[in-house]
Amino acid sequence: MTAFTLRDGSLTTEGVALADIAERFGTPCYVYSRAALAAAFDAYRTALAGHDALVCFAVKANSNLAVLNLFARLGAGFDIVSGGELARVLAAGGDAGKVIFSGVGKRRDEMAQALAAGVRCFNVESASEMAALNEVALAHGTRAPMAFRVNPDVDAKTHPYISTGLKSAKFGVDIDDAPALYRRAAELPGLRVRGIGCHIGSQLLDPAPAAEAAAKVVALADRLAADGIAVEHLDLGGGKGIRYRDEVEPTTAEYLAPILEVVAGRREQLLFEPGRSLVGNAGVLLTRVEFLKHGAEKNFAVVDAAMNDLKRPALYDAWHDIVAVTPRRGDARIYDIVGPVCESGDFLGQERALALAEGDLLAVMSAGAYGMAMSSNYNTRPRVAEVMVDGTALHLIRAREEVSQLFALERMLP
Ligand code: LLP
Repeated sequence: MTAFTLRDGSLTTEGVALADIAERFGTPCYVYSRAALAAAFDAYRTALAGHDALVCFAVKANSNLAVLNLFARLGAGFDIVSGGELARVLAAGGDAGKVIFSGVGKRRDEMAQALAAGVRCFNVESASEMAALNEVALAHGTRAPMAFRVNPDVDAKTHPYISTGLKSAKFGVDIDDAPALYRRAAELPGLRVRGIGCHIGSQLLDPAPAAEAAAKVVALADRLAADGIAVEHLDLGGGKGIRYRDEVEPTTAEYLAPILEVVAGRREQLLFEPGRSLVGNAGVLLTRVEFLKHGAEKNFAVVDAAMNDLKRPALYDAWHDIVAVTPRRGDARIYDIVGPVCESGDFLGQERALALAEGDLLAVMSAGAYGMAMSSNYNTRPRVAEVMVDGTALHLIRAREEVSQLFALERMLP
C-alpha cells in the first residue's frame, strides 16, 4: 500500500493534503498515516496467522507515544534497548509482559527497572551481562527471564553499519559458545531461561540470510533440549527491508515465508522484532524550500529541514525519495536538497530532478523509521513537530520544540 499519493495534483495521505498540514502545523514536520501503520502491523498478523507468534515493535525505529500506543492497541509487544524506551512503552499503555529487553550494554539500574516492570525477557549479549543480571535479580528476590542473543555468523548483506550478525560484530554471543552459556545460565538461581534471540541486521530485502539464521537457532534449540533445557520461544529478530528507491521490497508474507518454513511444526512461540517495516513507509518529512541557489556547477535547494532532523542521508548515504508536494509544470533542474546546518554532509538528497520555486513544499519519503527517532538539536535547532493523520482527523502527536527548552537544563557558572 502506498500511503502517500497524488490527488488533484497534490500529495495526500488518507485523503488529507500535505499542503494543508504544512499550513496548519508549519514546517518542517513529520507526518504519519495511522492507516498505513495499522496496515503494516496487520500484514505481520496475517502472515503469522496460525502460528503462536508475538510481534514486538522495535521502539528505536519510532518511539513517539502515539505510535507506540497504536501498536499496543493492536496487540503488539515491544523490543526495547533502554530504560527510557521501557518508560515510553509503559507510558503509551504497552504491556510489560510483552516486552523484550535487547542491547549490549544494559545498566544494572535498567535491569532492575525492567524486572520491577515485569518484562517478558532479557536478551543477554555476554557472559558478564548474564552474571550481572543474575545478581540484580537475586538482589530483587526474583528470577530474571532471559534468552541469549546469539550471533549466528550469517552475512545479512546490508549496509555495514546495520549488519549485526557477523562474528566481527559487537552484538550477541557466538552461537558456538551458546550451549555452554545456557548450561551456566540454567544453574544460576537468579535466572530463568526462556528463549533464544537472534537479529542479524536491518534493511534486509532477501529473507535467505534470516532463514539461514533461523535454521541455526532451531538447531540450537534442539541441542539445548537434548541438554535438558527447553526454551519457550524463538525470537527471530527484525530486519525486513522496505522500498526507498527502486528496491524490490518483498511483502511481509513473502519475507516471512522461508523463515516460517524453517520453524514449521515447532512448539516454541515465535517472536519477531520488526522496526523499519512497520513504520518506514508510513511517514514522510515535510519541508519547505527556503532558497534556490543556481550555480555554475551545482544547483542547491536550501530547505528548512536538515541533517539533524533526518540523519540517514548524512550518516549512511541513505537515499530517500524527495517529491514536490504540489508538482509544478516546467523544466526540472538537477538539485542537491540541502539544509541550513553548517556541514557539507548536510543534505537530504543529491542530484534530484525537480521543477522548484522558493516556498515550495517537499516531502522526503520513507521517513517514518529512524527519522525523528535519530534526530538531534545540532545547531540549536528545535526538534520538529510530528503529526498523525487518522482519516480526516489531524493530531499533533509531538509539538515543535521551543528554543528555550533546548537550554533549559544548562547553568552558567556563578
Ligand atoms: N531488534 C534488534 C535487536 C535491533 O538491533 C534492531 C535494529 C531491530 C530489532 C529492528 O530492526 P529493523 O526491523 O528496523 O530492521 N538506524 C539505522 C537502522 C539501525 C537498526 C538497528 N537495530 C537506519 O536508519 O537504517
